[in-house]
Amino acid sequence: MDKLIPTVNKLQEVFNTVGQDHIDLPQIVVVGSQSSGKSSVLENLVGRDFLPRGSGIVTRRPLVLQLVNVPPTASEDSTGSETSSDSDMNAARAQFLHLPNKIFTDMSEVRREIERETERLAGGNKGIVRTPIQLRISSPDVLNLTLVDLPGITKIPVGDQPSDIEMQTRSLVYEYISKPNSVIVAISPANVDIVNSESLKIAREVDPKGTRTVGVITKIDLMDRGTNSLDILTGRVYPLRLGFVGVVNRSQEDTLANKPISESLVYESDFFRNHAVYRTVQQHCGTATLARLLNQLLMQHIRDHLPGIKTKINALISQTEQELASYGRMSKDGDLASNSSRLLKMVTIFASEFSSSIEGTASEMS
Ligand code: GDP
Ligand code: NA
Ligand code: MG
Repeated sequence: MDKLIPTVNKLQEVFNTVGQDHIDLPQIVVVGSQSSGKSSVLENLVGRDFLPRGSGIVTRRPLVLQLVNVPPTASEDSTGSETSSDSDMNAARAQFLHLPNKIFTDMSEVRREIERETERLAGGNKGIVRTPIQLRISSPDVLNLTLVDLPGITKIPVGDQPSDIEMQTRSLVYEYISKPNSVIVAISPANVDIVNSESLKIAREVDPKGTRTVGVITKIDLMDRGTNSLDILTGRVYPLRLGFVGVVNRSQEDTLANKPISESLVYESDFFRNHAVYRTVQQHCGTATLARLLNQLLMQHIRDHLPGIKTKINALISQTEQELASYGRMSKDGDLASNSSRLLKMVTIFASEFSSSIEGTASEMS
């Protein structure tokens, strides 16, 4: 079971290498209006502070983020150093698909690289681009998850944004959430009436029965005194089969003061544990609850879609075999042939790893 999600992540890479979306692998897609707290939720799930900051539309390309859980000793062994001034941060390693040979350990460099890579394709203005940035973060303290951060839904163009910016972001969001293999994390801030939640509206359009949408209520700490989200979290206001989780992220003030995420996570769990109302519904509260729920959903989703994924892997293998055979006949295309044969080898290895993970799952479930 432990191997299942890493293997899916590897397969994802293989298909990215092929440059085609052959398999709709399950992934968790975060949607919400601008400033609803999408980036904050993602950073909390990763436990690291690595996303570009700023007001307005900051996320202008999709960010496909693979979180990979690695044992704590592995990264320490590789550096050979025993201690450091900031051992916690040393444990996370980040790698971009567009910079395969560079390993980032400094999260502020990761942030700068995301900014650079956003500007490279999306320019310096506020426009958005559909081509994703692919980032993998390996750390002992993340759960295995694939997450997608998307530009926020905006109503009104700002600065030199094109007048159809709302349509552009909506169609980009639809592209990701309409895939049946996506788990939608629909963010709604607690200080805005849930009836007006853009994320729940858009999620309902593609998932009318609410079978693959998780509601997340952010900014619970910013609600008016005397009001609370209890009825929403317990499903009495808006029906979602997978339910709602309430979270408290870093405030703008704490972010400006560079308050570490680890501290804000402690603050969050104290907030819910000591709260007169929320402490009675702990199963609907906090980033840790959300991370566990998402991990379970991702694994369930993979299990549900195994037959289809297997069929597609087999189709890709035979297609690659055929390509390879045709290059073999035209011996002058040696390079193409060796690329193709490398690919075939990769896909075959991953396919067999994948099958053994599945068998592990099956025996675990029986
Ligand atoms: P995004 O545009 O959806 O990615 O939203 P951000 O994550 O960038 O958050 C927008 C602003 O709201 C930032 O200043 C955050 O610090 C703040 N914020 C987000 N979530 C919370 C929360 O739960 N509580 C408080 N107090 N502030 C939050
Ligand atoms: Na929203
Ligand atoms: Mg953001």
